[in-house]
Amino acid sequence: MINTVILPVAGLGTRFLPATKSVPKELLPVVDKPLLQYAVEEAWRAGMTHVVLVNSPKKQGLETHLQAADPELVADLTAKGKQDLLDALLGTVPEGLTVSVVMQPQALGLGHAVGLGGTAVPSDATGVAVMLVDDFIDAPDAGCLSDMVALHDDTGAWSLAVEEVPMTQVHRYGVVSLNDSGRIQAMVEKPFAEDAPSNLAVVGRYLLPAAIISALADVKPGAGGEIQLTDGIAALLADYDIRAHRFSGVRYDCGSKLGYAQANMALALRDPAMAQPLRAWLKEFL
Ligand code: UTP
Repeated sequence: MINTVILPVAGLGTRFLPATKSVPKELLPVVDKPLLQYAVEEAWRAGMTHVVLVNSPKKQGLETHLQAADPELVADLTAKGKQDLLDALLGTVPEGLTVSVVMQPQALGLGHAVGLGGTAVPSDATGVAVMLVDDFIDAPDAGCLSDMVALHDDTGAWSLAVEEVPMTQVHRYGVVSLNDSGRIQAMVEKPFAEDAPSNLAVVGRYLLPAAIISALADVKPGAGGEIQLTDGIAALLADYDIRAHRFSGVRYDCGSKLGYAQANMALALRDPAMAQPLRAWLKEFL
């Protein structure tokens, strides 16, 4: 059974200061929805009914966004007949979704966060999904994670979402090498270009065997002094068929200002109410 997704949201968000001084990066909106909500919706479409939020005690508002709406606001919108806004408010959390929260007191790394999240994964789970909320993937159909679940259902293979990046960028990512059948044979976190096994970079979607949780317990600090998820996955490669999934759609790195601006522009240009005036304004502005 795979119905749990771990969302690690306890990082420091330093690339987005000062916005993230008091607002978690994962609550920054793309047009009108916070990044967290896009991730939850993608997870839900992939069949995940249990979200494990790995949060920092210092980050406020993330749990609140996944809780029931304020009854006073619901009553107010209802009384005023503002049905669209009411639907948007009540649709924040899919009905039937359960949310667990695990605290990561210190940001010791993504692998550390996922390991802590593992304590809330049911013991009968065969696998677990992990999504990085700031990697926003604008994809056709149900989305990237859904395709990865379908791959697992069809073949039994686990997978990591990957995309090709310029060699000058590999030092920012986990990078994989593949064997002839597409199975990942090696992974290295944030390599120098000369040491990188390829330019296939792992982005923020993972569908992993449940064994990742115990593997992470043995991982020591690696690149950047952090406990790396990559090192936990690398320990599983010999025993599990883990593949690189080249996803459809466009990924925006919303942990960076440029990626965030691009995501907002792309979605705004598709929004029925905004597309036409925004396009006209852009033409003049540029
Ligand atoms: P990032 O490295 O992109 O996020 O981690 P960050 O550390 O918050 O941001 P910068 O680099 O300082 O700007 C990817 C995801 O993993 C979470 C982050 O919250 C982010 O959503 N994370 C990272 C944790 O939950 N715990 C950690 O110890 C590290």
